[in-house]
Amino acid sequence: MGELDGKVAVITGAGSGIGRAAVDVFAAAGATVVAVDLDPVGAEAAAAAVGGVAVAGSVADPATWDAVLEAAAAHGGPHVAYLNAGVYGWQDAIEELPLDLYQRTVDTNVSGVVLGVRALVPAMRALGGGAIVATASVAGIVAFSPNPLYTMTKYAVTGFVQAMAPRLTVDGITIDAVCPSVVDTPMTTEALKGGSAADLGIPMISPTRIAETALRLATTDGTGRCVAIIDGVADIEWRFPDFVDLLKAAPQPDA
Ligand SMILES: NC(=O)c1ccc[n+]([C@@H]2O[C@H](COP(=O)([O-])OP(=O)(O)OC[C@H]3O[C@@H](n4cnc5c(N)ncnc54)[C@H](O)[C@@H]3O)[C@@H](O)[C@H]2O)c1
Repeated sequence: MGELDGKVAVITGAGSGIGRAAVDVFAAAGATVVAVDLDPVGAEAAAAAVGGVAVAGSVADPATWDAVLEAAAAHGGPHVAYLNAGVYGWQDAIEELPLDLYQRTVDTNVSGVVLGVRALVPAMRALGGGAIVATASVAGIVAFSPNPLYTMTKYAVTGFVQAMAPRLTVDGITIDAVCPSVVDTPMTTEALKGGSAADLGIPMISPTRIAETALRLATTDGTGRCVAIIDGVADIEWRFPDFVDLLKAAPQPDA
């Protein structure tokens, strides 16, 4: 028996890297997978590998989410969603940032999560609950100076996840973020510009380990968790108090 037997899991960025590993991990846990990717070939290949359903389109396009909900509903879902699609953006001089790449980075990394949650929440609420996990990054917890644009988008994800979490408990929906450091995927090859992580002495994490952490977050009690995965050894759960709780705890000025 798998933790996701009879459940439908939506996975974005399913055609490559962490998303592709998650397709295997979530399917092995029993889920019917809806594999979403901008790249139709990648989406189809991932879905075909596990007997799932492919949806080709951008996570930043509301029409993609209509298609995702339709595919999930055909199998009785969505119960679980792993909002993982992302792009690395721009790591060179800020004055040379191409405007179309800027827009695509914000669209994919931020709007892809917001539009996903916007679409999924009513559908999950109608089913009595659900679990959403987003891929942020350690760059969504601490600044990553090689890529400020990427850092900005990933802070957006961790902030959104933590602020949404208490609002969704009434619906029985959890929302968490997995925050990897450096993972052995095509994105890392792009970021290193052909350099090797091993040469730099950077520990490389397997995409499967990130996918397994996403599955754990989707299937265990808790919400608003941001789990950093720095190396192959231990996950670190990172949590700031909610702003409202900080205000309530602050000393009141004298009347
Ligand atoms: N690789 C790392 O070291 C690392 C570290 C921390 C966080 N992450 C995050 O993990 C996630 C997955 O990254 P990866 O390393 O597997 O990258 P990857 O490049 O291997 O895969 C990303 C996938 O997302 C798809 N995609 C891109 N834009 C899309 C869009 N608008 N709509 C739908 N699909 C789209 C791509 O086609 C690709 O299949 C990203 O959010 C990334 O920011 C990666």
